[in-house]
Amino acid sequence: MKRKKILITSALPYANGPLHFGHIAGAYLPGDCYARYERLKENEVLYVCGSDEYGIAITLSAEMAGRTPQQHVDLFHKMNKDFFDHLNFSFDHYSRTTCKGHKELVQQFFNDLLQNGYIEEKITDQLYSPKDDKFLADRYVTGTCPQCSYDKARGDECQNCGASYEATDLKNPRSKITGAPLILKPTKHWFLLLEKFREKLLEWLDSKDWKPNVVKFVKNYIEELKPRCITRDSYWGVPLPLPGTEGKVFYVWFDAPIGYLSATKEWAEKIGEPERWKDYWCDPDTKLVEFVGKDNVPFHAVFFPAMIMGQKQFYKLVDELPANEFYNLEGRQFSKSDGWYIDLEDFFKKYTSDQIRYAIAANAPETSDSEFSWKDFQNRCNSDLLGKYGNLVNRTLIFAAKHCDGKIPEMKDLEEVDRTFLNEIRGLIGQASKCYEEFKIRRASQIVMEIAQKGNVYFDAKKPWVSAKDPSLHRSMANTIACCLECLKALALVSFPIIPGTAEKVWHMIGQKKPFSQNRWNDLEEKNLLPGTQLPTPEVLFRKVEDEEIVLESQKLRSLSQNKQDPLATIQEFQKLDFRVGKVLSAEPVPKSDNLFKLSIDLGSEKRTIVSGIRRHYSAEQIIGKNVIVIANLAPAKIMGVESQGMLLAGKNGDTLEVLSVDTLPPGSKVS
Ligand code: MF3
Ligand code: ZN
Repeated sequence: MKRKKILITSALPYANGPLHFGHIAGAYLPGDCYARYERLKENEVLYVCGSDEYGIAITLSAEMAGRTPQQHVDLFHKMNKDFFDHLNFSFDHYSRTTCKGHKELVQQFFNDLLQNGYIEEKITDQLYSPKDDKFLADRYVTGTCPQCSYDKARGDECQNCGASYEATDLKNPRSKITGAPLILKPTKHWFLLLEKFREKLLEWLDSKDWKPNVVKFVKNYIEELKPRCITRDSYWGVPLPLPGTEGKVFYVWFDAPIGYLSATKEWAEKIGEPERWKDYWCDPDTKLVEFVGKDNVPFHAVFFPAMIMGQKQFYKLVDELPANEFYNLEGRQFSKSDGWYIDLEDFFKKYTSDQIRYAIAANAPETSDSEFSWKDFQNRCNSDLLGKYGNLVNRTLIFAAKHCDGKIPEMKDLEEVDRTFLNEIRGLIGQASKCYEEFKIRRASQIVMEIAQKGNVYFDAKKPWVSAKDPSLHRSMANTIACCLECLKALALVSFPIIPGTAEKVWHMIGQKKPFSQNRWNDLEEKNLLPGTQLPTPEVLFRKVEDEEIVLESQKLRSLSQNKQDPLATIQEFQKLDFRVGKVLSAEPVPKSDNLFKLSIDLGSEKRTIVSGIRRHYSAEQIIGKNVIVIANLAPAKIMGVESQGMLLAGKNGDTLEVLSVDTLPPGSKVS
């Protein structure tokens, strides 16, 4: 069999904040499982990824955090990398778009497109800050919504009415950072003439057998192609390679996908064969598989392919584009800023990377959105990993240590039930193989557990503990354990792409010496274990996740987000308020309002006018004479034309309202 060259990429994550399990489920874990599988199948796999480090979002966050963009991406690039290491990712190279060589490659892409007639320059009016002497990108702009007049609308859409527009449509545009007013000023930008690729793209797409919904979406997208601006006014990004263009850089989605090539080049240099990247990118026989989240599909199926089609030299176009849906956290999107997230440092102190890899794989968002929940995580860990997988490994090895001299027994004179069992396991290995080839890690994870369950059922049915007591049945007992050990081998094999750490342990626990990754899938599928091999003392694979832990984790999740929504008040903040007892002297309805009273209140040393919304609940007679509780030091406010000099306290529940009062304390008494 000829080894196939397979180049695998996962979308380059931004170096702009910590990654979370939502990202992992989309473009990363499926890519890693696939890479691990194809390596076992003896293909020539190269798996590259890296941090996406340019773009306006990054300059904005960096400035807000008081860092330079370089400091900012250095920080998060390292965090990204550590996160992937923690999760046992098997990238052959993890690069970054600020790496050496990326800039030149991006500029070369641009020059080719320009010379081939796919780029046009245009002068348009853009928002400019005379005070800061610069053009501001959408994200830096705020102003009044052209639709609803909300005065803090964002540069691209209004968070009040939902309208979307160009930043230049905003009324009274200002800089989000300095508040400086902005004016329209003409500036030159470069546009990629995407519509020129329409026919070529459609024809190319016809040769793909991608998921129908992806193809349909992409076709519609191609129909509507228009020239797209690929430059920005910014100091952070790959500069244009043209004279007189200071302050212009490429749009991040123009440079980022070229990052796949620069990462491959950097890898080639790292291994001391600088030309090796061409083996992958410039050879039509390479299979290129790009793992992405669904929001990245247009860039990978249209924008980047068009950029490649417009080059003077041949580069690979994507062959497979596995695109996953979204992975949420207990019903909502993961969001650090809303406090809806999992503290990863804490997580990895308590749980292993295989537990989370398995939980994500078992619930991978392949056909629809899915989510992480603590309850599901506990279930996957306890009933699957511990109850099925761990259980079979444990009982088989303990039994072998006790009754088979701690060695792999020989298989001889197998019974029908043994042969059926081995055949079924083999069938499941074949099914798993197909799943990995088709990027279906959810189904693959189910097959892992089906294999474990088959093993457990077989063990129970054959009752080796009974045959152990009767010397005439020792042959059958030995066969049972030999078959179970074959099942453990199958488990290690089929689970390796998803839970590599565990598979490696099982592999050593069945007496094998070389690292698991040096195996070949087909060998393990075909050849039996060597009888007589010494088995080391088994170790425990998984720890039980207790109910109490899960209750605590769920509480922690909810309190983190609660704190964000209702920050705690300090005692000092509370003490700032001056609560007093006040006697209601009079109550007049406020004209044109059906719920307001203008109250006159005696606070002991002075009289106050307070406007209060209690008229639907109290008549004038009911409220006059009451000793109510008033906030005496509230800043005065005009309500329906009347100045209110305080506020009185009332409890409310649905439609019921009750004013707080005390019976015997005189007006002016302090309340605290
Ligand atoms: N950084 C982008 C995201 O996280 C993905 C970039 S993919 C690449 O959505 F192809 F542009 F690199
Ligand atoms: Zn609006």
